[in-house]
Amino acid sequence: MEVARTRVELAAALARLRAGGRTLGLVPTMGFLHEGHLSLVDRAAALADQVVVSVFVNPLQFGPSEDLAAYPRDEARDFSLLEERGVSLVFAPSSDEMYPGGDPVATVSPGALERRLCGAFRPGHFRGVLTVVAKLFGLVRPDVSVFGRKDFQQAVLIRRMVEDLELGVRVETGPIVREPDGLAMSSRNVFLEPEERSQALGLHAGLRAAERLWAAGETRCHRLVDEVRRAVAERPLLALQYAEAVDPLTLESRDEALPRTVLAVAAFCGTTRLIDNAELGRP
Ligand code: PAJ
Repeated sequence: MEVARTRVELAAALARLRAGGRTLGLVPTMGFLHEGHLSLVDRAAALADQVVVSVFVNPLQFGPSEDLAAYPRDEARDFSLLEERGVSLVFAPSSDEMYPGGDPVATVSPGALERRLCGAFRPGHFRGVLTVVAKLFGLVRPDVSVFGRKDFQQAVLIRRMVEDLELGVRVETGPIVREPDGLAMSSRNVFLEPEERSQALGLHAGLRAAERLWAAGETRCHRLVDEVRRAVAERPLLALQYAEAVDPLTLESRDEALPRTVLAVAAFCGTTRLIDNAELGRP
């Protein structure tokens, strides 16, 4: 496995990987990897000849009061996990390498979808995400790139960006990987104190209850969303940001729960922000 720290090293390594017309799959990450990230690596390996993983904690997507400085990092562990998984190349640039002139002048605006769900609580976040993903696509020029459905709004916005700007990258998504008890894996879960860790399960518990209600015939979204709200409210360490039932493509709020309607939830657990979602009718 090669590690490129600069765009010059990256270009040289990519030329070697592409020799003979081999295809490239890219998995963008912010590191502190877990099985959720690694499942995307496996997916990329099934879709392309060579897998490139980027590890970059992107300052542009953190708000001024968010956890950029505290974001967990363990590069040595990340690299050995990626090597075990058969990754060909890791791109791990510094901020100066990624943003040589400081903050970029031209950025990618997510438009109206930015004001939905997480975007409403994290102004500028998705502009930062789309901008860095567009840069990574430009630097790596992958054939396919794989994202997790854990970050549902992010995956929707990346697909829309690729379509709207004709970026010519195939975008694929992978399912949410969970801990044995159901908590969605997240790099930020390391911040949870033991009691928070147990209450964090409220997001998944609420989504499961709503899915069961839907499977039993309830199609009024507000009833399904109430299940999620209740599971969160029952746990005093959780503070709900939003619980919504939305269209999987437009992110518009839905009244009637159809197959593929997405139930999405975000809550603070102590100082740690958690998100989770469920797509109705998807096993
Ligand atoms: P990060 O949070 O490191 O996540 C990298 C990728 O892993 C994303 O596509 C995310 O959806 C996916 N992922 C995280 N937890 C997952 C889980 N439990 N199951 C399945 N997939 C999971 O998302 C980002 O980084 C950044 O915003 C990035 C796209 C890299 C741009 O900076």
